[in-house]
Amino acid sequence: MSKRTVLTGITTTGAPHLGNYVGAIKPCIEASHDPNVKSYYFLADFHSLVKSQDPQQMRQSSLEIAATWLALGLDTERAIFYRQSDIPEIPELTWILTCSTAKGLMNRAHAYKAAVQENLDAGEDADFAITMGLFGYPILMAADILMFNSTHVPVGKDQVQHLEMARDIAQRFNHHYGELFALPEAVVEEHVSVLPGKDGRKMSKSYNNTIPLWLPEKQLRKAIMGIVTNSREPGEPKDPDDSALFTIYAAFASQAQRDAMRQAYREGISWGEAKQQTFELINMELAESRVRYEALIAEPAQIETALREGAGKARAFATPFLAQIRNAVGIRRLA
Ligand code: TRP
Repeated sequence: MSKRTVLTGITTTGAPHLGNYVGAIKPCIEASHDPNVKSYYFLADFHSLVKSQDPQQMRQSSLEIAATWLALGLDTERAIFYRQSDIPEIPELTWILTCSTAKGLMNRAHAYKAAVQENLDAGEDADFAITMGLFGYPILMAADILMFNSTHVPVGKDQVQHLEMARDIAQRFNHHYGELFALPEAVVEEHVSVLPGKDGRKMSKSYNNTIPLWLPEKQLRKAIMGIVTNSREPGEPKDPDDSALFTIYAAFASQAQRDAMRQAYREGISWGEAKQQTFELINMELAESRVRYEALIAEPAQIETALREGAGKARAFATPFLAQIRNAVGIRRLA
């Protein structure tokens, strides 16, 4: 394996937002053009099932996210773009890995622990509303990653623990059954990985502070105008390092634009003006793709075809690799 293999999944719950774009989609699409990288990008719809039991929402979100990646120019000749649920090898590998993964490892998962803590704080039973899907989520994610011998996995900081778990799971398997799996590492883009939302906390569906990626221009402007700022008046110097608005601007800006905006903050640019410039910068970056996005949404068959083709390519690797894995664990033909 000389090539880097980059892989990442995007959960299909809700509409993609600016945080997804900056933290995951954009760097991945850029990487998809690199001939020295083998890349896999997929809709993690089995993961979404943990969070959403609304079939209509599941479907809508898959459609929107697939359209997003295609509209933004993912190179589907080079990158393998597919839907997790089109790869039956993944749930099969999940089970195989489940059988050699310590329950104690899963007990330590932040997401699971947080759910337990929330229950206890609310005076509920520790297990209240916690599904096995939530509990085993990191194993499914490990299977996604290990299935393709991924070496580099771009994720947000909140997913780093899942990557550590995937490595643990791979190492344990390799130790017992032989060196089958590459050990993946998380790739966290330090300055952009956590985009703040409108309230200054991490932009996240669960905080309800997101700015959807494909808002029509007027609404995008309105959303940006709604980003919280402090009460410093026009003319008063402002601290770019203590401003969600600046962080959002910086994520879309070139180094030169960042430096200029830093200077403008120190010189007392008004919040209104800083917001207007932020809007213009973001809108300029998205306007053309937005037109392609609308066209794709109106034509789901085109998206479906792209996903099917991607699944075919992914399975060309997964099917023989899973055969090897089955053989390694002793699930073999008897004659
Ligand atoms: N758990 C990831 C998230 O919530 C999504 C995901 C699923 C993923 N499988 C993956 C990311 C494999 C990277 C690799 O963002």
